[in-house]
Amino acid sequence: KSPNLLLPEEIWSRINCSLMGTRIYYYSIVDSTNTEAKKLALSGAPSGSLVVAEGQTLGKGRMGREWSSPVGAGISASLILRPDITPPEAPRITLLTAVAVAEAIREKVHIEAMIKWPNDILIQGKKVCGILTEMSAEPDTVNYIIVGIGINVNNEEFPEKLKPIATSIKIAGGRVVSRAELLAAILERMEYYYQSGFGSGFGKLLERWRELCCNLGKPVKIIGRKESFNGTALGVDSDGAL
Ligand code: BTN
Repeated sequence: KSPNLLLPEEIWSRINCSLMGTRIYYYSIVDSTNTEAKKLALSGAPSGSLVVAEGQTLGKGRMGREWSSPVGAGISASLILRPDITPPEAPRITLLTAVAVAEAIREKVHIEAMIKWPNDILIQGKKVCGILTEMSAEPDTVNYIIVGIGINVNNEEFPEKLKPIATSIKIAGGRVVSRAELLAAILERMEYYYQSGFGSGFGKLLERWRELCCNLGKPVKIIGRKESFNGTALGVDSDGAL
């Protein structure tokens, strides 16, 4: 029986990728895998490098929020990518990641994971995964993109304020899941969509994203940094904008 850890060997033995995760930086605990990935990207880490940690002390969420990552419970992982795309195309990476995560959960745990625009993954209406994409770019070129993936996998409970909105795969599925196996399935899918998903393949990826999205056609409240408003989510355009 192998330990439920995210050690590089546990991941490599389950993937057949030529890019994603070919180099892995493993930490028992780190402040934030995104912050660490940024440092590594600046010092030249190649595209496809993966930073993974058993837990984070300062996990970052979108819009300056915190992301809770207790040691050994979830997946905290950040990929360094250096795609040959323009900055406006960068949101495609987030859409691609959301599809890869939702599909991997569906395949490995047989639970109906859905995407909530732009990039949350929900199970039974509660958040199980968040994606934080950060980019360094010039006006017409992308230097690197960090794709941070946080998944509540074997968490048994959540802080009081998160209880109404968060869940884990274990809570929803009733069994402990191998984190390395799930991460490996995500990396394989990300590689597939990354190799085929830009250019002409993007239409197909967007189609899949729409199938997995739970917001479309529904009333939504848009909460921005400066303003909020109510509306109906009609669709996403080819850049992934709502
Ligand atoms: C969100 O939904 O607000 C995004 C959460 C993203 C969390 C992940 S965990 C791995 C990576 N490192 C971080 O500090 N954040 C992302």
